[in-house]
Amino acid sequence: MRHQTTAVDRPPAVAYMDAATVACNAPSILNTQPWRWRVRPDGLDLVADRSRQLVAGDPQGRQMVLSCGAALHHARIELAADGWATQVTRLPAANDPDLLATLMVNGRAPVTMEALRLAYATRIRHTDRRPVSERPIPDVALQAIAAAARAEGNLHVLTSENVADLGSAACRAAAVEAGDAQIAAELTYWTGRARLSGTGLPAGVLPDHPTQTTVPSRDFGRPGTLPVGAGHDWAAVYALLFGDGDDPRDWLRAGEALSAAWLTATTIGMSVVPLSGVVEVAGTWHTLRRLLANLGHPYLALRLGIADPEQHGRPPRTPRLPLAQVVDTSAMPAPHPLTARGPK
Ligand SMILES: Cc1cc2nc3c(=O)[nH]c(=O)nc-3n(C[C@H](O)[C@H](O)[C@H](O)COP(=O)(O)O)c2cc1C
Repeated sequence: MRHQTTAVDRPPAVAYMDAATVACNAPSILNTQPWRWRVRPDGLDLVADRSRQLVAGDPQGRQMVLSCGAALHHARIELAADGWATQVTRLPAANDPDLLATLMVNGRAPVTMEALRLAYATRIRHTDRRPVSERPIPDVALQAIAAAARAEGNLHVLTSENVADLGSAACRAAAVEAGDAQIAAELTYWTGRARLSGTGLPAGVLPDHPTQTTVPSRDFGRPGTLPVGAGHDWAAVYALLFGDGDDPRDWLRAGEALSAAWLTATTIGMSVVPLSGVVEVAGTWHTLRRLLANLGHPYLALRLGIADPEQHGRPPRTPRLPLAQVVDTSAMPAPHPLTARGPK
């Protein structure tokens, strides 16, 4: 009789590899995937890969670390869905700021339906930049997304008056970014043909003309090929991820909150689109700080809405780097066959 390996008798090293693999499905700024996972027999290290940091558009690395935080949460979810209790140490080495976190399993834990749902969501979550449905978001859905974000960080849902301010701030941020030759060159690189294979934004995920939105979406500097209807996202809700400080630990936690909110949204058919330009332009960062009424520091604006069933199908998937480029198994007993596997 064929022996089937169950989660219970799988060694942690296999779980680490699975977690790193799934983490690579996480969203990232301009799909730069600015992470590197080191799989060790007794743990998993998350390292920021500065070779894919947006030097002009994200000089502090805030969006880079947020993206890594989202990947960290994806890894945590995969381990939870596999029945592992985990221990995370964030920024464990003062002399190595690029080592963002270490993850270790710490015994078995019951698998919850919630963990399974979120793990499934890591496989299907995507960014859909088309207008959302005109149906208002049910309160219960908004509360579920906010609760998921707040379990990891802070989310402030904006009033309609605040949304108008966010809209004008996003316009100003777009104008500043369009007038900055280095930021424009970065956008051209990550959306153009010369971009590193397996990264960036293919034309198929970018709207074929500017969408009608209350808060302008990021101007990628070129139209894509994703057909967009005439809808206006009147029913969208806007929110800000924020926190007490503005350093890498805060950004990492905000990325985990982003992932938690987005995966929960995915399980209930809701769409999430991050808006980062407005945070990275100094003048508009101050507008967001004011919108938060000094609750804290803004990290990312989010558009939430019901994914519009009138829009035909989901946009194509954004590519991902080959696992061998982002998952380092050199610390594992050689030869390690797991890197040969495809995405989960
Ligand atoms: C920190 C962060 C900032 C982002 N900022 C924007 C943005 O300003 N505009 C946008 O359309 N998408 C934004 N995104 C979405 C990414 O472009 C998207 O996650 C990436 O292209 C991968 O595609 P996927 O989400 O479909 O897997 C952001 C994502 C992250 C994690």
